[in-house]
Amino acid sequence: MKQTIFPIPKTMRLQGALRVPGDKSISHRALILAALARDQTLIRGLAPGRDVDSTIRCLSGLGVHLFRRDDTCLVRGQGLYGLKRPSGELDAGNSGTTLRLLAGVLAAQPFDSVLTGDASLRRRPMKRILDPLNRRGARIFCQDGYPPLRVSGSALGPLKYGSTLASAQVKSCVLLSGLYAAGETVYTEPRASRDHTERLLTRFGVPVKTRGRCVCLTGPAELNACRLTIPGDISSAAFFMAAALLLPNSDIYLTDVGLNPTRLGWVDVVRKMGGRVDIVHEDDGWEPRGTLRVRASRLRGVTVEGDLIPRLIDELPILAVLASQAHGETVVRDAAELRVKETDRIEAVVENLGKLGVPAKSLPDGFRITGPASLRGGECDSFGDHRTAMAMAVAGLKAESPVAINGWEVVGVSCPAFLDNLRSLIVE
Ligand code: S3P
Repeated sequence: MKQTIFPIPKTMRLQGALRVPGDKSISHRALILAALARDQTLIRGLAPGRDVDSTIRCLSGLGVHLFRRDDTCLVRGQGLYGLKRPSGELDAGNSGTTLRLLAGVLAAQPFDSVLTGDASLRRRPMKRILDPLNRRGARIFCQDGYPPLRVSGSALGPLKYGSTLASAQVKSCVLLSGLYAAGETVYTEPRASRDHTERLLTRFGVPVKTRGRCVCLTGPAELNACRLTIPGDISSAAFFMAAALLLPNSDIYLTDVGLNPTRLGWVDVVRKMGGRVDIVHEDDGWEPRGTLRVRASRLRGVTVEGDLIPRLIDELPILAVLASQAHGETVVRDAAELRVKETDRIEAVVENLGKLGVPAKSLPDGFRITGPASLRGGECDSFGDHRTAMAMAVAGLKAESPVAINGWEVVGVSCPAFLDNLRSLIVE
């Protein structure tokens, strides 16, 4: 499906308030932990979209009863040892988080299972989870390190593992397997990645110790059901924030957005670029959340690297669009992980911006963009990646003529109401 985005006329801007959809990362984890808990968990504010549908589908395939209505879901927990042997392959669709996290759980079950996904997911590397899992006694087989994963459930032992990747999916996979392992799981990461799993495990009553970059839990560890209200997704908010920053006179409020510090690299970078982003209200809880005010701003180029990268990894495609409108050079480094996301996001963003007349250069581990450049309109591609599609839609609002995006339907992976949400903020 092709979607054409029309530039916003000079007389229009973004104004008003929006509650962005629930956080996708937290939603996957909440569902999985609720399924393993001893009683019923009520989840509110669940993320919409096909990725979270995939987690629900896989859990149903494992015999978990989930009752979902809109963004509320009641999960009947099976306890740590109550999952059932699936009757067929478990299909994680496009969702890397679903597949990698469930692999950690399935490795410890008393039955065999197969985890697979769509064409994009079957091209994503799994060695990163196979190494630690196999080291603790898991038996997982696949070809050349790609899904499908054939999991032969087995008894798992303790593990002390130093990862070379700052990946919350790998960390979470290892921690989930640790719930079943007799003894300690000690996991160290090179840079801090999102800590939703640690926070949620604590919320479900599992003692988790964190010291610097090291996380530790002791298994076997039972989970107690709870009630959860998931905050809005800062990674979805990022697209509306970028639109407000770029469109003159815009002034919007994003309410109940997750403000977890491990996800706020984007806010830090936007402020460094001169973007007017204010946290106007903040609630601390199992996940911090609050209201952001974002106003149109004159932006300048920045360098983004090192510890910042895992804190804004999913926002780098939209950062590239901001960079094209910022004064000076923006350089992103240390982000080679972008090449193994839903698509190669470095090539996707550089090629798409190039088609709209922006000279962007890919680097082995990032990109370099000099702005401000005029966006001339034209035809882009989602490359089957939701975040690439939404980033180019924001570029389209600012372009001189319409921007058509091929493969638009992929926005349904994380933000099916993206265009409606955007329209709700546009005023004369
Ligand atoms: C996620 C972690 C990140 C992120 C992805 C969601 C998660 O991936 O890019 O969209 O929910 O744990 P990596 O763990 O591969 O860095």
